[in-house]
Amino acid sequence: MWQLVESEFEPERNLNQETLLALGNGYIGMRGTFEEGAGSGMRSVEGTYLNGFYESDPIRYGEKFQGYPDVGQTMLNVANAKVVRLYVDGELMRWENGRFLSHARTFDMRHGLLRRELRWQSSSGKEVAVESERLVLHAHKHLALIRYTVTPLNFSGNIVLYSGIDGQAKNLSSDDDPRLGAGFDEDVLQFRDRSITAETAILHQQTKTTGFHVVCGIHNKMEGERPFTAQPLVDDEYRLGHRFAIDAAQGEAVTLVKTIAYATSRDIDEAELMAVVQGELAKGTAVGYQALKTEQADFMADFWYHADVVIKGDDQLQLGLRFNMFHLLQSVGRDGHTNIAAKGLTGQGYEGHTFWDTEIYILPFFLYTNPAISRKLLEYRYHILDKARQRARQMAHPVGALFPWRTIGGEECSAYYLAGTAQYHINADVAFAIKRYYDATQDAEFMQQFGAEILFETARLWLNVGHYNSDQFHIDAVTGPDEYTALVNNNAYTNLMAAENLRFAAHIADWLQQEYPHTYQTLAEKIALTPEETSAWAQAAAQMFVPYDEERQLLAQDDSFLQKAVWDFANTPADHYPLLLHYHPLVLYRYQVCKQADAVLAEFLLHDQFDLAQKKRDYDYYEPLTTHDSSLSACIFGIMAAEVGYPDKAYRYFIDTAIADLDNKKGNTKDGIHAANMAGAWLSIAFGFGGMRVGDGLIFNPVIPAHWESYSFRVQYQGRLIEVTVTQEASTYKLLDGDPLEVQIAGAGKWVM
Ligand code: BGC
Repeated sequence: MWQLVESEFEPERNLNQETLLALGNGYIGMRGTFEEGAGSGMRSVEGTYLNGFYESDPIRYGEKFQGYPDVGQTMLNVANAKVVRLYVDGELMRWENGRFLSHARTFDMRHGLLRRELRWQSSSGKEVAVESERLVLHAHKHLALIRYTVTPLNFSGNIVLYSGIDGQAKNLSSDDDPRLGAGFDEDVLQFRDRSITAETAILHQQTKTTGFHVVCGIHNKMEGERPFTAQPLVDDEYRLGHRFAIDAAQGEAVTLVKTIAYATSRDIDEAELMAVVQGELAKGTAVGYQALKTEQADFMADFWYHADVVIKGDDQLQLGLRFNMFHLLQSVGRDGHTNIAAKGLTGQGYEGHTFWDTEIYILPFFLYTNPAISRKLLEYRYHILDKARQRARQMAHPVGALFPWRTIGGEECSAYYLAGTAQYHINADVAFAIKRYYDATQDAEFMQQFGAEILFETARLWLNVGHYNSDQFHIDAVTGPDEYTALVNNNAYTNLMAAENLRFAAHIADWLQQEYPHTYQTLAEKIALTPEETSAWAQAAAQMFVPYDEERQLLAQDDSFLQKAVWDFANTPADHYPLLLHYHPLVLYRYQVCKQADAVLAEFLLHDQFDLAQKKRDYDYYEPLTTHDSSLSACIFGIMAAEVGYPDKAYRYFIDTAIADLDNKKGNTKDGIHAANMAGAWLSIAFGFGGMRVGDGLIFNPVIPAHWESYSFRVQYQGRLIEVTVTQEASTYKLLDGDPLEVQIAGAGKWVM
């Protein structure tokens, strides 16, 4: 179960398939479109995206108030370098011409590539077999490859291959779906320069508003014995490439190897870009296709060694899990300056923005399977900390930092503040991720260099935004994770997570002062931190108000939630979900109706602050009110279902999570993968069925769905690699690497392995 195989092409599913079959390496992302382009009338989004590369556009408000962000950021669709066209007898091979006798694609997750095999018959009856392979190289951030092989099956004669770049890329928009966002015209990328030689073609473009530069280069090389002529071609400012006329012979394959490179002024000086791309192309061609393909397979083998989850007894879910993990790897920025968008690098949904999805959902997957990547995600937050400080000032906080609800470059881009800026919990989410990271890695160097400063600045903000009422610390006018409830006082999730932020910041301040007094001193001077502040953090944490309904013994989502009328679920037609596409937000805000896990999420994250009976009561209360209209919801309810004793529900939620994109369960996979949900599938295995929790060390409390034979997963923790295997009879914990470690197993006490 390592391959997603498309044995028959269904044009009406094309948009979804383009998302599912997308390739990426955390920097370059390419949708799974055809080299020759889509057939006419076929719905398609030709998309190539570069992590961190965006265009800005003014946000137009009907009524604009103080502090609203002025400009948005949109991940830009850049020049398409996948273009390869095949002509037989002058006829272009594409969907509406001639006849496809067979067509299959294989998305090979074990080796990290996409293969396409087809047979096509031209109108004049000439048949060719085409095999293409596409790789976006994990070990070489700037590089991708296409190997395109054509074999004439029933003729000898001339065939023509054109391999080029198409720089006329366009972004999509939608007036009806707020989740899609801004569109741009085809000329958003403007011509700056180009170079073309016998084998390479390079195009240099620049965005209109941000002024970012992007250079896309290709190197085309024909392999095989057959004679050919090559011709460099420049069509216009957008299109250039090479045309090969080949004297082909029946049964003899001819192969084009195309090396592709992208670089941008986001991380390379603009004057160097053309040379860098040239250098990358030279490097790629010198190493050669086969060696790079082997290197890619080795990279993937290492990834799977640490991350793979094996489910015996359910092939579809096995495939779903690997598919999700593979896409997460493909989407995640790994250079400390880029992050992971809600839709990865696979589509234009949410404009390529990064949200709290990273820290609460995606980061733990990487933390426990590939901690180095999780550190890079946190470094990203450090690199945008100054912008978060500025944002805090715009929001009238004289101290501290406020991370943007959604962004690419670090500035707040959310135009709808009720379900945007008001989600101050983003600050606590970042702090929580730092705490988790530190616990799992004990990376003191990270804490000194990056972590402590973020913790201190976020803690400061809570103290400024909240206030004491009687003896308790209150936080008013925020929105919690549930976006069907907005601008409330004392959202339980926010208050609990803020308390955690404050407590941990105070703890780290003490620790730093004792262990690394010089570092503490320097940092305290840099941000003018006083001892009074750190003790005020500890106090606010201790006195944090948490709304609770004594009568019903429920954790209240916020001060007013439980007093509202319950949404009329019985009279809501099934086709009115997701509710956000059918009701004005204000209508939703008036009722007890949740888009996603909120109080229940707090009880998952802060598991040792609630007893089982409390968790069960809250689960029973909030579950019927939750629509799961957000894809961030099902996995959390599944994990908590496993904990509170509903294994069947846990399993159902797991299915919804594990194959959400493969089955297009949300109906918008065309706009990109649901990255947080994908990570939720891994969380469902480790934290859900595996019952893993991190408290004073690792804790496991496994359950197994009735019809699974077994499942196993691996966890990296404090320098160890552990494998957990659960069967119907037993659970086994194996230390694969590192020093002995004590783990706690529910019902069996503490064990050293
Ligand atoms: C969810 C948010 C999430 C965003 C991006 C929204 O639908 O409600 O919690 O951050 O999608 O995935």
